Amino acid sequence: MCPAGWRLLAMLALVLVLMVWYSISREDRYIELFYFPIPEKKEPCLQGEAERKASRIFGNYSQDQPVFLQLKDYFWVKTPSVYELPYGTKGSGRFRLAQALAGLDCSSPCDSLKCRRCVVVGNGSRLRNSSLGDTIDKYDVVIRLNNAPVAGYEGDVGSKTTMRLFYPESAHFDPKVENNPDTLLVLVAFKAMDFHWIETILSDKRRVRKGFWKQPPLIWDVNPKQIRILNPFFMEITADKLLSLPMQQPRRIKQKPTTGLLAITLALHLCDLVHIAGFGYPDAYNKKQTIHYYEQITLKSMAGSGHNVSQEALAIKRMLEIGAVKNLTYF
Ligand SMILES: *[C@@H]1O[C@H](CO)[C@@H](O)[C@H](O)[C@H]1NC(C)=O
Ligand SMILES: *[C@@H]1O[C@H](CO)[C@@H](O)[C@H](O)[C@H]1NC(C)=O
Ligand SMILES: *[C@@H]1O[C@H](CO)[C@@H](O)[C@H](O)[C@H]1NC(C)=O
Ligand SMILES: *[C@@H]1O[C@H](CO)[C@@H](O)[C@H](O)[C@H]1NC(C)=O
Ligand SMILES: *[C@@H]1O[C@H](CO)[C@@H](O)[C@H](O)[C@H]1NC(C)=O
Repeated sequence: MCPAGWRLLAMLALVLVLMVWYSISREDRYIELFYFPIPEKKEPCLQGEAERKASRIFGNYSQDQPVFLQLKDYFWVKTPSVYELPYGTKGSGRFRLAQALAGLDCSSPCDSLKCRRCVVVGNGSRLRNSSLGDTIDKYDVVIRLNNAPVAGYEGDVGSKTTMRLFYPESAHFDPKVENNPDTLLVLVAFKAMDFHWIETILSDKRRVRKGFWKQPPLIWDVNPKQIRILNPFFMEITADKLLSLPMQQPRRIKQKPTTGLLAITLALHLCDLVHIAGFGYPDAYNKKQTIHYYEQITLKSMAGSGHNVSQEALAIKRMLEIGAVKNLTYF
């Protein structure tokens, strides 16, 4: 070979070495350039499996229920509701609801995913020192509840949040601290005032202070594009199918599902695989044991909350037994 040929070969070799070095130093590039299959350590995901298993509890309910409320349904009065909040939108003021929905996006974050692996992260003290952070962050969809924090607890609870379910009284006052820039903030409405609250925040109208059992944020720094309103249908089937609560209740509701149980119901509809972490409470006799991973409160604080913790535990046990969900922490 002539010297020019050797030089060319040496150049090519150098380029190749540089490419390999560059792509190894950036793992994602490595895959793109060489199409080396990396061993998938994720759990196998079967499309529709979660909902199929859950149908033993929920039945084969209508698939065309939208996950989030959409303005078009209220323009055409397409879906008149049988129930009042929190199980439906009857009597909650269509105009007000439409105003709250105006300008909101209604798409689901996981529309583009083929098979969705989801984890619902509760607030239970079993998450403390669990080191589950990395495991949790690997799911396609991470659903969190209310004001449960992430900052400072990443090692145990992870840092990714795809969706956070909340109601005005449980909203974190500084949502940017505990969420990712693209986290969906999903309002769970318990009463008509909750629609009003989000409307005043979004359109910067005069805030209302009365009608809440705890002062919700009056200034709430969020991008309206990230706000959704959960279809109350999911609260309905949680109460009806999981807890067998009476649907036509008198004005004051005696018992209602927790956000956590609601989140599992939602996940079973939205996802193909559903795991839960940080659910469950300490035994009732253990009066000093704290119940949340982030604050020092005990079971006593649940009294008078309108939640029946032991009945919910039975419902979750049932879902574990039929394999609709799997627990990452002791339940
Ligand atoms: C739901 O549908 C599946 C398949 O379509 C069927 O096998 C199952 O028995 C149905 N379950 C109920 C509770 O109707
Ligand atoms: C968590 O770990 C810390 C430090 O190792 C320890 O002090 C604390 O008692 C542990 N907490 C629980 C709930 O196990
Ligand atoms: C706390 O987590 C439980 C699940 O363990 C959930 O049912 C409940 O709604 C949560 N409560 C708050 C205030 O976040
Ligand atoms: C909570 O549910 C359990 C089990 O269904 C039941 O035995 C108990 O009476 C309920 N407690 C209240 C306060 O309703
Ligand atoms: C799930 O809960 C059961 C108890 O119901 C427990 O035996 C099991 O270890 C838990 N799984 C994990 C991964 O913690």
